[in-house]
Amino acid sequence: MININIPDFIAKSITGRESSLFLNDIDANKEALWDKIKNKSILVIGGAGTIGSSFIKSILAFEPARLAVVDINENGLTELTRDLRSDAHIKLPEYYKTYPINFGDLVFEKLLTKEGPFHIVANFAAHKHVRSEKDEYSILAMLQNNVFLAGDFLERLLDYKPEHFFCVSTDKATNPVNVMGASKKLMEEVIMAYSHRLPVTTARFANVAFSNGSLLDGYLYRMMKRQPLSCPSDVKRFFVSPEESGQICMLACLLGKSGDIFFPKLGEEQMIYFRNITQSFIRTAGFEPYICQSEEEARNFDINLSDGKYPVYYFKTNTSGEKLFEEFYTINDIIDDSSFNKLSIIKQSSTKSLEEITEILDQLRSLINSQKLSKNAIIDLLSGYLPDFQHIETGKNLDQKM
Ligand SMILES: NC(=O)c1ccc[n+]([C@@H]2O[C@H](COP(=O)([O-])OP(=O)(O)OC[C@H]3O[C@@H](n4cnc5c(N)ncnc54)[C@H](O)[C@@H]3O)[C@@H](O)[C@H]2O)c1
Repeated sequence: MININIPDFIAKSITGRESSLFLNDIDANKEALWDKIKNKSILVIGGAGTIGSSFIKSILAFEPARLAVVDINENGLTELTRDLRSDAHIKLPEYYKTYPINFGDLVFEKLLTKEGPFHIVANFAAHKHVRSEKDEYSILAMLQNNVFLAGDFLERLLDYKPEHFFCVSTDKATNPVNVMGASKKLMEEVIMAYSHRLPVTTARFANVAFSNGSLLDGYLYRMMKRQPLSCPSDVKRFFVSPEESGQICMLACLLGKSGDIFFPKLGEEQMIYFRNITQSFIRTAGFEPYICQSEEEARNFDINLSDGKYPVYYFKTNTSGEKLFEEFYTINDIIDDSSFNKLSIIKQSSTKSLEEITEILDQLRSLINSQKLSKNAIIDLLSGYLPDFQHIETGKNLDQKM
């Protein structure tokens, strides 16, 4: 077992923040948050995931009356419940129900009809890995989850209008270079097209440290299995803690105006290289990094005979769809920097009407159902809709790496 206190490691070696970046903003808006959450009913989709579960923890502090959590991951829901019920600081409402359901399934519609309407609806369900976009099949699965289901859901919500609807986005939607980011940018366009009929907000933010399936989360498994670490030497990112990720979403969901995209105020100097985090991680685990020259060398390194050294392989990024840096907005966006202390807002980001969005989704559907379907055809079509989308194709994919 590795003995690292993860929240402590995040604070000391990643974000450099002892307490949440958003404490002031939460404090300054406490009354509004109590007013909007206390005794309300809440539906969280994708709530077993890292950000969804952090959102749930943030919102429970304001005593909602009902909480329903939907997630396709049954084990994740089990762990969520164990986590919430084992925490002395968390009080669950009497009505707390978890449902292992795909939010695109018919049974979800039944649930919405019988258990709804909900005052607050938040959606965190998505395909989020750039590695999941190898070919037309994996891209279709991503578009299905991130774009089509998100759109269908909003259409259904028109009959069960909530007071607040939030759907999480990502910094990768800004000037996207991968299909994942492009799918999220399109998702933003889809949900914003409903922003005149429903109160819709979203948030883009940085990497959530140790989020499910992330490089850093993988380090915990590698160390438990005594396997080598591997990381890009040239990529730097902004980071927030899981707690901060839930708080950004709560603030955006409850306090944003319809059409707003929230993002954290983080200065360029707060971006950190993965290789620096990796060095600190190995040292905090009680080892000294041993830098290998290849995956082969790293795999064959015998950790038990290594005299306190831990193998790590640094590589230069060469896979499709990777940016070396991170950004939250483009030069054309209108930014509100003054409403919050540590959050900025992109105002009126989308100009597409619901009719235009429907037309785009219809074109995508007809490509999907045609003989012309290929990864390149989808990328060409998406590039036509999203002028900022510049796909980086190197012919290499993360599934080819350790
Ligand atoms: N983790 C990050 O670093 C990060 C940063 C910025 C933005 N985001 C965005 O936030 C979102 C969530 O990220 P996360 O780290 O919490 O991911 P996660 O994988 O931990 O959580 C997503 C959850 O959604 C569930 N889900 C997926 N499809 C579903 C479906 N059709 N029906 C029901 N449940 C479904 C999954 O089972 C999972 O539990 C993603 O869209 C991601 O792009 C993540």
